Amino acid sequence: MSVSAPEPTDPLPSTVDEDDSTLRPGPTGASHRRGPFTKGDRVQLTDPKGRKHTVVLEPGKQFHTHRGAVEHDALLGRPEGIVVTSTGGTDYLALRPLLVDFVLSMPRGATVVYPKDAGQIVTYADVFPGARVLEAGVGSGALSCSLLRAIGDDGRLVSYERRADFADIARRNIETFFGGPHPAHTIRVGDLAETSERDIDRVVLDMLAPWDVVDAASAALVPGGVVCAYVATTTQLSRTVEALRGHGTFAEPAAWETMLRDWHVEGLAVRPGHRMVGHTGFLVTARRLADGVTPPVRRRRPAKGSLPDPADVAATTEPPGPGPQAVPAEPPAPLP
Ligand SMILES: C[S@@+](CC[C@H](N)C(=O)[O-])C[C@H]1O[C@@H](n2cnc3c(N)ncnc32)[C@H](O)[C@@H]1O
Repeated sequence: MSVSAPEPTDPLPSTVDEDDSTLRPGPTGASHRRGPFTKGDRVQLTDPKGRKHTVVLEPGKQFHTHRGAVEHDALLGRPEGIVVTSTGGTDYLALRPLLVDFVLSMPRGATVVYPKDAGQIVTYADVFPGARVLEAGVGSGALSCSLLRAIGDDGRLVSYERRADFADIARRNIETFFGGPHPAHTIRVGDLAETSERDIDRVVLDMLAPWDVVDAASAALVPGGVVCAYVATTTQLSRTVEALRGHGTFAEPAAWETMLRDWHVEGLAVRPGHRMVGHTGFLVTARRLADGVTPPVRRRRPAKGSLPDPADVAATTEPPGPGPQAVPAEPPAPLP
């Protein structure tokens, strides 16, 4: 048997010059986030006391503070991370605002999901590039920005908002952040309960009464899909979890919250910050079961130490009481 050597092949067609970003513009909004400052860019100027000001660059314009003026022309064409000095002699560090900065300073209709929770939602609801996501309510559009970044241009985000005025604020904020409409985004003014969306991978709920839309979320989700709800109070948390649990189409929900604490780090003076972002909200996630599947019966073993030590029981019970084998293996049935 002879083995012929493969024909030498032509070199690969000339590849795109890696430095030529104009040929590959990248995901929506990416071009506004790198390279030298250009006309229309949002720039965050931070003074020595940490105060932040955002300017939108226009040739020939000036940014005025009580510490003098900064020429926009001193920024245009220059790289991020430079320091410019106002006519009054104050230095300003110039950077493009991050999504975190933008969300905390943008115009608000409704309360926004804080960045610490948006990060948790994207990760624990497993929002992946190309995912089809259903969201309500859109509020000010903060969470929508994080969801759009996570799904990218090839995903699909349908955001429901009951209030037309909030939907307008959100649309403006999202377009400002991405530098124009996002190709994966649709905002619908209306109630999520009435959606006819199907084949959705993830449903994200930030609204007063998520339990009212559990039917809609269940109908929209694919088997294995994730519903994630963000609620502010323990009563909302309880109703949401019980509604998901009682619905019969979801696996056992998980619930949690996070707290964020800054640290002061200076030489050997290393201590927690005096203030922290404590309670913002609770998060709940649950997975959609396949149609016709009954949720597995929950079985919980008592935590170690939550039952009396069998040796103590034996020593103190007269006549000899129940041994370890008499300790119930299951906790009492959950309350209805
Ligand atoms: C806290 S805000 C959402 C904030 C938003 N996630 C953000 O990060 O900017 C809650 C919004 O949900 C809307 N909403 C409440 N119930 C709704 C429903 N069933 N369908 C659609 N929108 C709803 C409200 O009008 C309100 O604007």
